[in-house]
Amino acid sequence: MHDIQQMLEEKRAKARLGGGQKRIDAQHKKGKLTARERLELLFDEGTFEEWDMFVEHRCADFGMADQKIPGDGVVTGYGMINGRLAFAFSQDFTVFGGALSEAHAEKICKVMDQAMKVGAPVIGLNDSGGARIQEGVASLGGYADVFQRNVMASGVIPQISMIMGPCAGGAVYSPSMTDFIFMVKDSSYMFVTGPEVVKTVTHEEVTAEELGGAVTHTSKSGVADLAFDNDVEALMMLRRFFNYLPLNNKEKPPVRPSGDPAGRLDHSLDTLVPDNPNKPYDIKELIVKTVDDGDFFELQPDYAANIVIGMARMEGQTVGIVANNPLVLAGCLDIKSSIKAARFVRFCDAFNIPVITFVDVPGFMPGTSQEYGGIIKHGAKLLYAYAECTVPKVTVITRKAYGGAYDVMASKHLRGDVNFAWPNAEIAVMGAKGAVEIIFREDKGDPAKLAAKEAEYKARFANPFVAGSRGFIDDVIQPHETRKRICRSLTMLRDKKLDNPWRKHGNIPL
Ligand code: HXC
Repeated sequence: MHDIQQMLEEKRAKARLGGGQKRIDAQHKKGKLTARERLELLFDEGTFEEWDMFVEHRCADFGMADQKIPGDGVVTGYGMINGRLAFAFSQDFTVFGGALSEAHAEKICKVMDQAMKVGAPVIGLNDSGGARIQEGVASLGGYADVFQRNVMASGVIPQISMIMGPCAGGAVYSPSMTDFIFMVKDSSYMFVTGPEVVKTVTHEEVTAEELGGAVTHTSKSGVADLAFDNDVEALMMLRRFFNYLPLNNKEKPPVRPSGDPAGRLDHSLDTLVPDNPNKPYDIKELIVKTVDDGDFFELQPDYAANIVIGMARMEGQTVGIVANNPLVLAGCLDIKSSIKAARFVRFCDAFNIPVITFVDVPGFMPGTSQEYGGIIKHGAKLLYAYAECTVPKVTVITRKAYGGAYDVMASKHLRGDVNFAWPNAEIAVMGAKGAVEIIFREDKGDPAKLAAKEAEYKARFANPFVAGSRGFIDDVIQPHETRKRICRSLTMLRDKKLDNPWRKHGNIPL
């Protein structure tokens, strides 16, 4: 018996060494942790339960029969994150560069299947050279098996990808179908084709970092949600982020009570919006002053910054925040910001997270680049997302709500549950100047007359009371009581039930 036990320990020790000390040292030298070190940091101490440590590949080509490493390049299992269950796979770059074989894919599929059965999130720590080249189509089949599961799990359990090394070729499509992608700066990259292929095909010279590094994907492409400085920071932030999420789509998100009073007033908000309607201000100040303890977990801060999205809590309950930011492009909705916010609203809706929307939007962005780029279709994504969304929706118009963008931004007409406006809000088809220039086009040569008409239009429409008189706004509130009024609304909405009609699926304008 003792011999067998000792053999088991030896086998385990061998498996834990992955591709060997030399390769572990090389991994550390690059500033990267190993697959197991990452899992130790991700999960509560001592809670990770590893599966399939002894799985090996079945490839016999190219001398692979003699190169079997237990675990086959991915560590899989489950554990607790702040006491809550999560499944994970962590690719081991020290074993065949973390390349995905058929057996490697089977391990990932096994944890995904189990996570679906018990209703718990899946976290992927990606660090891989892509398809295991020696295995050919068997590896491609393995990827597709993972993709199919990504799609079936979408909207059922949260899926999070942390890119901590290479992620190239078709391998990018598994993370891209998960709910969130986080990256580590300088050590991770994602691209469909690498710099060499790019050079051959398009004659562009670009480094891997420029093409698909963390900065590129968090600022240019919008593929990734956040970038972190190193593995340790990335995993600590992932643990923090996990705390906002429910385990599955049948659960409510966890409640983390805070000492921040629901009735807290903030009089500094009364002067947040400048008197001059063309002067910008930072909407994040309002968000931070409204949510519990000023704790706002912003996503995609460097991409389409004209809209702000992220997680926060109100009276301990997770909420999703969407806010136009007048500091960037005057808060206009454009293609990128519409897509960014639409995907976020759909995530919140799928996972029972109420959406709070702060509105200060002068409209959709004009211009040929927007029209040629398909703003009609892309703007409709946000409209669609808000309209199909059945979770509690609380909206606060802080200043401008013009034109179609008024409708889109969680208006009453899109089943907003509670719609507030600040007293200085301007809810109209467009700004007074633009409106007068159209209605009184024939008076173009008479600036005095136009100015008078502008003042008249402003007095008539640039306020929240016209909308209020129709019930499109439930109440006009003082800025300093914003937190209190949202908290009350969310309490009222806690057991909200609203179902959309049965259908196979809608046809969101993609
Ligand atoms: C098998 C691989 C591998 C792969 C790396 N290795 N990628 N083994 N299949 N895809 C092995 C290397 O042979 C090496 O083994 C070890 O992993 C580390 O690789 P290095 O090249 O020494 O590391 P580094 O210099 O850091 O470069 C990493 C890398 C590079 C950029 C990922 O290895 C690389 O370009 N690999 C090939 C990438 C690729 O073309 N993959 C297929 C993409 S197509 P030793 O024994 O020396 O330690 C694809 C299709 C998916 O993935 C389709 C899904 C639908």
